[in-house]
Amino acid sequence: MISNPIAFYIFVWLAGCCIFSVYLLSILKLNHTIMRIPDITIAVDGYSSTGKSTLARLIAQHFDFLYLDSGAMYRGVTLFAQEQGLIAPDNTIDPALEAALEGLDLHFAPGTILHMGERNIEKEIRTMEVSSQVSPIAAVPYVRAWVDRRLHDFAASGRVVMDGRDIGTTVFPNAEIKIFMTARPEVRAQRRFDELVSKGESPVFEEVMKNLQERDYIDSHRETSPLRRAEDAFVLDNSEMGFTDEIAWAEGLIRGKFGLLDAPDAIA
Ligand code: CDP
Repeated sequence: MISNPIAFYIFVWLAGCCIFSVYLLSILKLNHTIMRIPDITIAVDGYSSTGKSTLARLIAQHFDFLYLDSGAMYRGVTLFAQEQGLIAPDNTIDPALEAALEGLDLHFAPGTILHMGERNIEKEIRTMEVSSQVSPIAAVPYVRAWVDRRLHDFAASGRVVMDGRDIGTTVFPNAEIKIFMTARPEVRAQRRFDELVSKGESPVFEEVMKNLQERDYIDSHRETSPLRRAEDAFVLDNSEMGFTDEIAWAEGLIRGKFGLLDAPDAIA
């Protein structure tokens, strides 16, 4: 016990200084890390429901990047084609879609919330109805060219993390960091199933699995910009990983790239 009041005040003052210094150091360390990372592009590609958007969002938050979801753009074009009656139930696409795209305004509001003009379409683009027709739409060369132009406009300045299927191979082949995500099909289908249930939908597991497999097939076999791993991409199989492990892995990768820490062992 400290009986002398002066000694007591000195003790409290010293303890306060220590706590404040630790706080100050942690802020400086974080800012220092962010400042030392230059304006770069991070490409996150991979199969359906591997958690690309979750990882990309975490990276954006941790390292102060702009997050862009290229899949949302293809989903937005699909919703537009469905609403305009330009895609039939058998996936036949009306060639009038090409001219109609010139009048389409798809953009992200803060938080990477996709809008069609003034309308927030985030919820509608995640339904099974859109998922069932997005890959045929995304295989059309003029649709890809239209989306790529928009993505380049959105990413014109600053640090960007973008997820999709062809970001590291076609959209930003010079991206400084490329990640290719994969996970076992049953794990991916379960994740997507849980996500749809949490949004109030009533999915059938077998249909979710079938949709993932069909999209994987179409995405990997189309002629224009097929889904494939860029040669210089780091592979992340997150079948057995949680969010905390993933962000630790990505942090190691990003800091390692800029000499801030060692790169993670898991790099393939
Ligand atoms: O969320 P999930 O991983 O299932 O898909 P998404 O990222 O929302 O992408 C939806 C669909 O858009 C994919 O299945 C692809 O057909 C297409 N896509 C693409 O072709 N190229 C991209 N860069 C992103 C998505």
